[in-house]
Amino acid sequence: MDKLIINGQRKLYGDVYISGAKNAALPILIASLLSKEALKLKNVPNLFDINTTEKLLFSMGVEILKTDSLLTLKARNIKDFHAPYDLVKTMRASILVLGPLLSRFGHARVARPGGCAIGSRPVDIHIKGFEAMGAKIKNESGDIVASTEHLPNNRLIGAEISMSQVTVTGTENLMMAACLANGVTILKNCAKEPEVIDLGNCLVKMGAIIKGLGTAIITIEGVDELNGAEHSIIFDRIEAGTYMVAAAMTAGEINCIGVESDKMTSVISKLKEAGVDVIKTDNIVSIKSNGKLKSVNLETAPYPGFPTDMQAQFMALNTVAEGVSKIKETIFENRFMHVQELIRMGADIVINQNLAVSRGGKVLEGASVMATDLRASASLVLAALSAKGTTVIDRIYHLDRGYENLEKKFNQIGAHIERVS
Ligand code: UD1
Repeated sequence: MDKLIINGQRKLYGDVYISGAKNAALPILIASLLSKEALKLKNVPNLFDINTTEKLLFSMGVEILKTDSLLTLKARNIKDFHAPYDLVKTMRASILVLGPLLSRFGHARVARPGGCAIGSRPVDIHIKGFEAMGAKIKNESGDIVASTEHLPNNRLIGAEISMSQVTVTGTENLMMAACLANGVTILKNCAKEPEVIDLGNCLVKMGAIIKGLGTAIITIEGVDELNGAEHSIIFDRIEAGTYMVAAAMTAGEINCIGVESDKMTSVISKLKEAGVDVIKTDNIVSIKSNGKLKSVNLETAPYPGFPTDMQAQFMALNTVAEGVSKIKETIFENRFMHVQELIRMGADIVINQNLAVSRGGKVLEGASVMATDLRASASLVLAALSAKGTTVIDRIYHLDRGYENLEKKFNQIGAHIERVS
């Protein structure tokens, strides 16, 4: 298993090119199932989760052609309608095949995702939505088995669906299902994340009729079929935010290239509150830090609130910033796994249920630590970059799920990170 060895306390300086967003690319690759024509995608990041998605789609019969700059997916002949447990357990987003398969072919079978490191993560809202559109859903040997065979023309029926909680993949799954349903679907309490909008924009290019993207109510008028399209994936705001925090913690000066700053307002405003200079120009966000940081209080929330996927990185920042701070996690119940590892590096953090209170102003020290999930791993990298001495991070396969060329990109701006097997 690979490890990262990080020598800390180096100032980061230079340009970082931000990759395409993992959380937009995953549903968009899966949206290829909705059409028999080719979906051509640009700016797809090279990540473990993307490889898993390609493997899943290929196993179903999707033809995949890859060049350096273009990924072409063609779901002309689908022969297998099953997402097996060994793929679903490595990537929960596999649940997203349910909507497209059900709406185009009338049946699908997806292993039910179990809990994961950050919480129980149920999929009840997805399932209730499909049922509201007329699907019959049953459990069989740990799989969710869905069918529309009893419905007229084997098609889902448009419905009004009010989601009990804001869910990103839930909104995406139901939006994809509604594209080929019979009639109009009104989704209420939708996720407004830029990645949901990017998926919606791609679906519209494929011929879907969707209104209200980026608002709480999305209306989809079902059509008989979708066509091929070409689409470029939006930038990864979480990757960008991670590099910004790294620069802040190392008294660095970096330019994040390919960033639409209006999609990162909550993160940028917290960086400013921490005492970091943030300059926004066309497509570039420049970060300049003198290393004198003030810790910040924050509470995670659905977009446009502060993203849960940036919580762990700000936890690392707060350990070195001056002052006492509170971080409240409202999205996932068990998303403080990084805290114990940060404490091993010298952080002073006390957890009380979903609240973490941190006494900052520490100089972290290198240690051997273990990554537990994707963003927890990122927070350990940030802590290591600012720490005195050497940190060894074990189980970094989590990082490869979501950060493209992490050590290469960091080393290009002055970090010293080595990967060893
Ligand atoms: C997505 C992101 C993930 C991010 C999360 C929250 C992808 C591939 N992943 O995950 O990086 O951390 O949004 O921004 O886009 N819930 C239910 N029932 C459901 C669905 C969700 O109770 O059927 C709950 C979850 O347990 C959680 C909350 O709703 O407490 C939000 O989860 P959700 O937005 O669905 O997260 P994901 O889409 O899995």
